[in-house]
Amino acid sequence: MKRIIVDCDPGHDDAVALVVAAHFGDLVGVTTVGGNAPLLDVTNNALLTCQIFGLDVEVHSGAERPLVAPPRNAPEVHGVTGFKGPALPDLERSVASTEAVNYLIETIRGEEGLWLAPTGPLTNIAMAFRQAPDLVNRVAGVSFMGGSASVGNHSAVAEFNILVDPEAASIVLGSGAPLYMAGLDLTHQFLVDDSLVSDLRAISGPGALVLADLAASYLDQVELRGGERNGGLHDPCAILAITHPNVIEHTERHVDVELDGSLTRGMTVVDQRRGSQGADPNVFHGHTIDHHQARALVLEAVAARSHSGS
Ligand code: BDR
Ligand code: CA
Repeated sequence: MKRIIVDCDPGHDDAVALVVAAHFGDLVGVTTVGGNAPLLDVTNNALLTCQIFGLDVEVHSGAERPLVAPPRNAPEVHGVTGFKGPALPDLERSVASTEAVNYLIETIRGEEGLWLAPTGPLTNIAMAFRQAPDLVNRVAGVSFMGGSASVGNHSAVAEFNILVDPEAASIVLGSGAPLYMAGLDLTHQFLVDDSLVSDLRAISGPGALVLADLAASYLDQVELRGGERNGGLHDPCAILAITHPNVIEHTERHVDVELDGSLTRGMTVVDQRRGSQGADPNVFHGHTIDHHQARALVLEAVAARSHSGS
């Protein structure tokens, strides 16, 4: 089993990612970063997810704000606390530390071949790589949810995780670590919709019901903004790229992030030209997902873990 640290900002889809990582991988630890909601909220949500699904891992909270940019959250997507929707149990767990970056450095220095799966802004990962450049040669890879090769979701061209902290994304993209990208062009092939909500409810068990309520609330929010009742189930894609590489097709490409453009800041520029015209590839760009298989795997993970927590 692949050993994985998930760096996240739950967020409904981060919660699903944690369950998938714990079921199909060996979840070594969880770190949190301010993103979908402020750090305190997303950390509580990560702890709650571990509690509800009985995941026996440490949670370390990390960066409260991006390296340079002002903090930015997504209440219109996940609610003010990041976990809008379900009735949640009282939180019984607490953080192992508030030093996620130190945790990442020590853990990766202590064990070669770990996978990092960032599903929020890349602030913690960039700080760890900047403080300890040796880490990039010690990890098996960094499989991140972020960016897009086409349209954005928080600007015309920028995806939320990258737009929140473009400077951090730039550090990670330039780090030399093996990088696997699950951007919007991939994750929009794998949808949350009302039939997924029904399938989650049919599993029963407290964990599945919380995820069903989170997903239903996400669809309500999409509808309120004038959209159809579906949206990408983004973050689990970054986990499946590690645990089920056969489900996602990757192509090696050069990816960079725009830091300056007044209209395009936070855009990931994915060089899809054929041949060797551009800079050397630095990313395995995920572009096609078998969404039937991905959905079956997510439901399998949730069903297996739904009765394990409190
Ligand atoms: C990403 O942004 C967040 O809202 C989701 O959790 C996901 O990580 C999608 O753009
Ligand atoms: Ca996320």
